[in-house]
Amino acid sequence: MAARMKAAVFVGPGRIVLDEKPVPDVGPLDALVRITTTTICGTDIHILKGEYPVASGLTIGHEPVGVIEKLGSAVKGYREGQRVIAGAITPSGYSYASLAGDHAQDGAGTAHGWKPVGGWKLGHIIDGCQAEFVRVPDAMANLAPIPDGLTDEEVLMCPDIMSTGLAGAESGAIKVGDTVAVFAQGPIGLCATVGARLMGATTIIATDMLPERLDMARRLGADHAIDSAKVDPVAEIMRLTDGRGVDVAIEALGLQATFEAALRVLRPGGTLSSLGVYSKDLTVPLGPIAAGLGDHRIITTLCPGGKERMRRMLNVINSGRADLKPLVTHRFKLDDIEAAYDLFGHQRDGVLKVAITP
Ligand SMILES: NC(=O)c1ccc[n+]([C@@H]2O[C@H](COP(=O)([O-])OP(=O)(O)OC[C@H]3O[C@@H](n4cnc5c(N)ncnc54)[C@H](O)[C@@H]3O)[C@@H](O)[C@H]2O)c1
Ligand SMILES: [Zn+2]
Repeated sequence: MAARMKAAVFVGPGRIVLDEKPVPDVGPLDALVRITTTTICGTDIHILKGEYPVASGLTIGHEPVGVIEKLGSAVKGYREGQRVIAGAITPSGYSYASLAGDHAQDGAGTAHGWKPVGGWKLGHIIDGCQAEFVRVPDAMANLAPIPDGLTDEEVLMCPDIMSTGLAGAESGAIKVGDTVAVFAQGPIGLCATVGARLMGATTIIATDMLPERLDMARRLGADHAIDSAKVDPVAEIMRLTDGRGVDVAIEALGLQATFEAALRVLRPGGTLSSLGVYSKDLTVPLGPIAAGLGDHRIITTLCPGGKERMRRMLNVINSGRADLKPLVTHRFKLDDIEAAYDLFGHQRDGVLKVAITP
């Protein structure tokens, strides 16, 4: 009988449970990675709640840090025992989408049958990494060696949270001296705040409703932190910018309210960079979009993946330009992952990110 492993499996809305599965087999281009640390994403909570369901029985998780256990027969350039990460998004490198440069859109589409989002495979259309082992497809395009001296927790944000958050800033094409608003300061929004600073924004305005997240935003580079539960963020941002509005507004939550607020604070010609995963139709109000004549750009971004993106993220950490360790606030064993979902899903006890170790 094949060796077995523990894995966090989506059963149906409201239920992700620890189960047992066979250790995956590897095809010629794959790698088997033994997970040493992983985490739970806000998107996994959308899955759990049934807002973004995946197939029943699928192993969840798309943020792997681990050690190469086994390499497919055609995989070159790596060795077993090497410490690696893979991105949440695992492009093949050879599909039409990849060759067009749209690596995140590689693959066969979504669990929902939409054409885009196909580069997100782990914990979405193939078994993910909240498990003892994960099969990483197209290993040569996706495995990024962890620089010596960096701990698992130091690199845990690279596969998704950091890559996504920084991409929100990059997609916004922030320029030196820009004023940037970041709506919501969950892990994604906090990394967008870090990205805005790295891109050269000199006024960064963060919004959230949790005081500890607003504090963390200040610590990571926000100049102003607005508590949306207490003040109207649109009015406050317009006041802070002398009525000018912001050059770039980053939406990092996935709600009509924050999407709309991001549009309302944009200067003419500004860019709305959207990162949130939405679960309802969005409407675009006529005034803020200036009947379509405002020279606005609205851009959406799926977390960039692939080993070159991961190499860059690891380099940002290794160079000391960003320190995302403070985002890891809680630690759980894989055996206790249901408790980890409960804590993370309800944002209890000041949780930002949990580190899960098999
Ligand atoms: N685009 C991508 O590739 C990608 C990747 C990962 C996650 N996501 C998505 O990004 C979003 C954020 O993820 P996260 O893990 O940071 O989520 P999170 O739930 O941890 O954080 C959301 C934050 O929003 C705050 N908030 C709630 N209502 C608010 C309001 N009206 N105004 C301002 N802040 C408010 C909450 O207090 C919380 O801090 C989710 O929708 C997630 O699915 C997208
Ligand atoms: Zn994610």
